[in-house]
Amino acid sequence: MTPLPNPEVGAAVKAADRAHVFHSWSAQELIDPLAVAGAEGSYFWDYDGKRYLDFTSGLVYTNIGYQHPKVVAAIQEQAAHLTTFAPAFAIEARSEAARLIAERTPGDLDKIFFTNGGADAVEHAVRMARLHTGRPKVLSAYRSYHGGTQQAVNLTGDPRRWASDSGAAGVVHFWAPFLYRSRFYAETEEQECARALEHLETTIAFEGPGTVAAIVLETIPGTAGIMVPPPGYLAGVREICDKYGIVFVLDEVMAGFGRTGEWFAAGLSGVVPDLMTFAKGVNSGYVPLGGVAISGAIAETFARRPYPGGLTYSGHPLACAAAVATIQVMAEEDVVGQAGRLGETVVGPALRELAERHPSVGEVRGVGMFWALELVKDRETREPLVPYNATGEANAPMAAFGAAAKLGQRRPGTIPKLMNLVAGGIGKTEVVDVSHRVLCSRRLVRFVEMEYAVPRAELGKTLLRVRDLIEGEGLRVNFPIELRVAAADDIPLSTAHGRETGYLAVHLSSGMPFDPYFRGVEAIMDDVGGRPHWGKLHYQTAETLAPRYPEWARFQAVRARLDPDGRFRNPYLDRVLGPVASP
Ligand SMILES: Cc1ncc(COP(=O)(O)O)c(C=O)c1O
Repeated sequence: MTPLPNPEVGAAVKAADRAHVFHSWSAQELIDPLAVAGAEGSYFWDYDGKRYLDFTSGLVYTNIGYQHPKVVAAIQEQAAHLTTFAPAFAIEARSEAARLIAERTPGDLDKIFFTNGGADAVEHAVRMARLHTGRPKVLSAYRSYHGGTQQAVNLTGDPRRWASDSGAAGVVHFWAPFLYRSRFYAETEEQECARALEHLETTIAFEGPGTVAAIVLETIPGTAGIMVPPPGYLAGVREICDKYGIVFVLDEVMAGFGRTGEWFAAGLSGVVPDLMTFAKGVNSGYVPLGGVAISGAIAETFARRPYPGGLTYSGHPLACAAAVATIQVMAEEDVVGQAGRLGETVVGPALRELAERHPSVGEVRGVGMFWALELVKDRETREPLVPYNATGEANAPMAAFGAAAKLGQRRPGTIPKLMNLVAGGIGKTEVVDVSHRVLCSRRLVRFVEMEYAVPRAELGKTLLRVRDLIEGEGLRVNFPIELRVAAADDIPLSTAHGRETGYLAVHLSSGMPFDPYFRGVEAIMDDVGGRPHWGKLHYQTAETLAPRYPEWARFQAVRARLDPDGRFRNPYLDRVLGPVASP
């Protein structure tokens, strides 16, 4: 759907927000929330009709994108049938959601306690562990986040905890492995793993093993920096827990439900915890839902003794119906497998390539669709771009970085749909202006590949119209422009828009202005209800251009015809080609 601008409504939404909404984690007068009019797939748009690629998937939860028609329909059906019902009853949507989740959790985590989100899932997991063991303390890692409620924020191992740190929450923090900033002077993953395990066991020994109820770890820490644990670490923690009778809790609120290319990140190591928390991706965040998956042994503790905890909305039918539909969609569209493949073949390589070009990237790390770039001042010393927990002046470089990224999105005179050129739907974004200069890049665009999701019924007609447009510009379709219709199965993320959608790929070569084509293609897409789906820039350097120089002469001729007054000339292109042109 093409967003229709409506700035007056946007202004009213913003005004009411500023007057009455109290926002999370913010100094209320220092924030400027963007008024969002709608969202679909990986995109959202504002009331000016400006479209944005949502690189953060909401708060890392829209694992199947916004407004998936099947999940929206399931919520609507559930609302029509039974919008709500108290938690003490057996309700179809709740039973089915629990069954589908239990089928996917590792080992014997077969009982599901539903909560409203991630933090309360963590609260309940800790309560269960304390009651199961009869012990008071809980160990969690520095560089972690477990939620904003009292116990969860006290487990959190970063400055978000400090303001609420009661000092009496029974939490002891320890260092989990993180080779890039090793606390253990380790130089290899093996050393980091062994030393982190030794440190954990020593911490337990000095705290008193008989006082420790649980170790709570994010399977892969998320907001703290996506530190994928070294091989053997989680298995080692499992052994330590078994040795001392400690409950092992894995927090999969962020890493779960496909983000890492596994249903749960625990699947990457084969480790089975005693309790596992989830939320977010369980229903792509469409309706608040979280929960704890419980092992047989812990469920047994509460078989004849009541569990002292509950929530009015535990297993809310709307949230559970959304979970059932989301899990079915993820299975049908192989979202989990696709996240793994994209991470391996597209996102990882693209981010590593980005790191080669940008000296301020110290490390690229991640898996599936879960990645971090560690920004540094100096790669050798690994000095962070800004100090830990920097604010104000000290945080200026990070603030400038964020502002530049936003500026890129809003740069006047750019082609909105061209701005979000990415590798594989997530990963690097390059900003392109109408004269096809690539900002922030020392390379030339060789060609731009844009894919559009088009209603299947419109596909043939659209193909012909795009061909006519291109040929109307005096260019042949096959060279230097390639136009093809691809079967849905050929294209990464092809199922993101539903099976009734076809895909049209338009390749446009450098050496000529992109502007007329993209404006024309955009107009056609607006007309037929097509949406930009994926885009990629292919690069050229002076060296790779040299052997192709004869082609450049053709480009020049075409460009002269299309752009006689040189409005779209790219000075950088000319500068780089200068040496090639005059041997
Ligand atoms: C690992 C982890 N645990 C718990 C939470 C808290 O979840 P919620 O915000 O749904 O309470 C989050 C939220 O980002 C998280 O990333």
